[in-house]
Amino acid sequence: MPGRPEPTTAPPPRLVERRFRDRIELWTETVGSLPPVYGERWKERPDGAIRSFEPGRSKLAAAVVKGWRGPLPRPGERWLYLGAASGTTASHVADLVGRDGRVYAVERSLRPFARLLSVAHRWPNLFPILGDAREPTAYADLVRPCDGVYADVAQPDQVEIVLANAALLLRGPGAAVVVALKTASMGRDRTAAGHLAKAEDGLSETVDLAASVRLDPFHKGHYLVGGRQRGREGGRRSDDPLTPPRAPPRGRQRS
Ligand SMILES: C[S@@+](CC[C@H](N)C(=O)[O-])C[C@H]1O[C@@H](n2cnc3c(N)ncnc32)[C@H](O)[C@@H]1O
Repeated sequence: MPGRPEPTTAPPPRLVERRFRDRIELWTETVGSLPPVYGERWKERPDGAIRSFEPGRSKLAAAVVKGWRGPLPRPGERWLYLGAASGTTASHVADLVGRDGRVYAVERSLRPFARLLSVAHRWPNLFPILGDAREPTAYADLVRPCDGVYADVAQPDQVEIVLANAALLLRGPGAAVVVALKTASMGRDRTAAGHLAKAEDGLSETVDLAASVRLDPFHKGHYLVGGRQRGREGGRRSDDPLTPPRAPPRGRQRS
């Protein structure tokens, strides 16, 4: 379609991949400051520090190593992160969107939230929200329309949770929906493959899915699932290099 960039599966610009014969190392160009969030390695470079993005600790990193070709956060984007815990992956998502982007990080448990707050002091584009992802209307006033949602709440109804947040808080067609599935927390009525198929079915009603990837051996019984919201024409793809500035909707107090 003229005028609209093709979707790209190129790695996001702030993700550094180092390929060795038998493994891939991932790093993110960081917008944060030391100390490390979870013991990851930091390296100073002339144009800024990078930090190792560990597939054994982050399902998003594991998915990239395992060949995920679906959407990833890109510079300038706003992402909603559900189930941020103490910020291991959320801090890397904040690195990927860079200083012009932002990450709204929702977590409902106080203990990890306290650690997330201390990470947010060092990551200027990370906005922690103490809240229940099942109640998106409770935090909608704090969140400007997002280019993507990443969910990792490890709940049996996670797909419903994600779809409710996506309908309310994503900017519309073309926005990214990415879900880390922990099949062990989805009930005993299905096999892992059965849970995956059910989640894909639920998401596919509104999302054009990329190929799901299995996260073994990094995260046993986990998958990364997702793609882009479908809709009528006019949606800007979040593969665009920069999110254009938008006026906050009326009544929203904070951006
Ligand atoms: C698997 S951990 C997340 C790990 C994190 N995403 C990472 O990679 O660094 C799941 C988190 O989701 C949180 N959680 C579970 N249900 C939630 C809900 N309904 N709303 C918000 N957070 C929730 C849990 O408290 C927990 O911290």
